[in-house]
Amino acid sequence: MSDFLKIIQERQSARVPFDPKCPVSKEDLNQILEAARWTPTAHNMQNFEIIVVDDKEVLERIGHIKSRISEEFLRENYEQLSFSREELLKKKTGILGSMFPPDWVDPAKISEAVKNAMPMPLTQSVRGSPMLLFVVYDPRKRAPASHGDTLGFMSLGCAMENMWLMAQSLGIGLQILSSFSASPVESEIKKILCIPEYLRIAYTCRLGYPTGSSKYLRVRRDLEDFVYHNCFGKAML
Ligand SMILES: Cc1cc2nc3c(=O)[nH]c(=O)nc-3n(C[C@H](O)[C@H](O)[C@H](O)COP(=O)(O)O)c2cc1C
Repeated sequence: MSDFLKIIQERQSARVPFDPKCPVSKEDLNQILEAARWTPTAHNMQNFEIIVVDDKEVLERIGHIKSRISEEFLRENYEQLSFSREELLKKKTGILGSMFPPDWVDPAKISEAVKNAMPMPLTQSVRGSPMLLFVVYDPRKRAPASHGDTLGFMSLGCAMENMWLMAQSLGIGLQILSSFSASPVESEIKKILCIPEYLRIAYTCRLGYPTGSSKYLRVRRDLEDFVYHNCFGKAML
């Protein structure tokens, strides 16, 4: 296997606490940012800006923001869950329900769970990360003739993958935190980081050195499940 494919396959979501005493070095950060700099973007618009946050006090302020779980998230999350390793291995897409509290993964209990859920401080998501990267974009702009700016969003995803693979190659853990882009959390973060009103947070990356291994079942479809040859539905021989 090529070294590059190995990095791609070994990249994973680091869903474990990071060592707060082990900062990401300036050199490593520069490499991750350099990887972002060379992201392919629609029309080379380079439609993102990145705010690096490693100041303890700022991280603490962000950690104090409280978020609430939404019913929409839990209901749609449920669609992607498997309830045993065997089910996940068979489905080959989605994640394990055991990653969430039991009443978040029982459709009969979701409404009640949302009503009773206490607002949670973001520090529970930050989990000791010595560094957060906030990737922001301007929703008033779009790639030419790209309705809904689909091409712009793809470009933001390219930046994510470039940074993630670079972090992986440097032995740095990375987890995407989508919930930091949801309102009203996003507005609170924007205030703390002085992000102009017109920008949106596309996603947040937590970076650091994992304190343990992120051991969870990772599945992927096989090539024959999604690759066709010359005609949709026709298998590659
Ligand atoms: C756009 C996007 C948003 C994501 N949001 C989250 C998130 O909020 N929390 C999280 O733990 N993982 C998040 N992930 C990671 C995916 O859940 C993960 O990539 C997928 O389950 C495959 O697992 P792997 O990254 O370990 O290969 C996100 C990934 C992408 C591309």
